Amino acid sequence: MNRKQFDPLKIIRTFTALKILKTIAALQKYLQQQNKKTIGLVPTMGALHQGHLSLIALAKAQTAIVVCSIFVNPTQFTNALDLEKYPRPIETDIIKLEQAECDVLFMPETTEMYPQKEHWHLDIGEVEHRLEGKFRPGHYQGVMQIVYKLFVAVKPDLAFFGQKDFQQFRVIEKMAELKKLPVKLVMCPIIREADGLAMSSRNIHLTAEERQHALVLSRALNHLKNVPVKEASAQIILKEAVEMIKAEPGVELEYLEIVNADDLSEDLSHPEKGTIALVAAKVGQTRLIDNMILG
Ligand code: PAJ
Repeated sequence: MNRKQFDPLKIIRTFTALKILKTIAALQKYLQQQNKKTIGLVPTMGALHQGHLSLIALAKAQTAIVVCSIFVNPTQFTNALDLEKYPRPIETDIIKLEQAECDVLFMPETTEMYPQKEHWHLDIGEVEHRLEGKFRPGHYQGVMQIVYKLFVAVKPDLAFFGQKDFQQFRVIEKMAELKKLPVKLVMCPIIREADGLAMSSRNIHLTAEERQHALVLSRALNHLKNVPVKEASAQIILKEAVEMIKAEPGVELEYLEIVNADDLSEDLSHPEKGTIALVAAKVGQTRLIDNMILG
């Protein structure tokens, strides 16, 4: 076969049951034809792994049509190099979505999602500025912009997000509440590698050695698993976990905190929604996050 004529993506598309749509107009036309079946949305930035696929499986169990979006959202990156380096293995992503029996892949162009420069800003209070917000200023405004646009385009009944990005979940919850969007958000458990490393699209950037050092994050969270949060000894155990991470070669701790799982504040006196330990660290050049719900 002439090399020029061989387009693997085209061949995959010919045989797949997965509907691949690139514009909001095509997406809405398709969804309108589905006779008001319940719609589940799984927003992603691609480089799909078992964590993403677990969201698709949960969406399939709870809704009739599952839409997965793949869009590397420029407005949520606070570092141009990070955006440039973000993996984009679209051919293998399509195969994974096909195997997962996802119904629709929505993969818009940047010009479709951002026809002009975005100016709006949503005030959701302190939850935006704590933890991740402190290290990635503006990040959650970008996340809210794109998730809002996806919610408006898809109008999902249910939208599925991972506990892996716990703060992101709380931010999106606030955005949906403020914008009065009739969508139910579902939080899905963290999927880990057998050795405890939380799955992430960024893990491919880790060298074999860095990957071993990265295990300290889940080890430190496990150390906090049964911490008596309201007792003074909690601070000692937290300090031990911090020291564990600081002692690990090649790992630069950004934060490890135990906070109220409701508003992510340090006020643990009324933890109706429980307490959670959240960690972020750079392992070599790769920034990783993880968390564990406590008690
Ligand atoms: P992305 O990092 O691709 O993640 C997409 C979804 O997969 C998020 O809800 C995330 O929490 C979930 N996820 C990632 N790793 C997981 C794991 N190990 N176990 C379970 N779920 C996991 O999060 C984003 O993209 C973007 O910010 C997005 C919401 C798409 C907006 O651009």
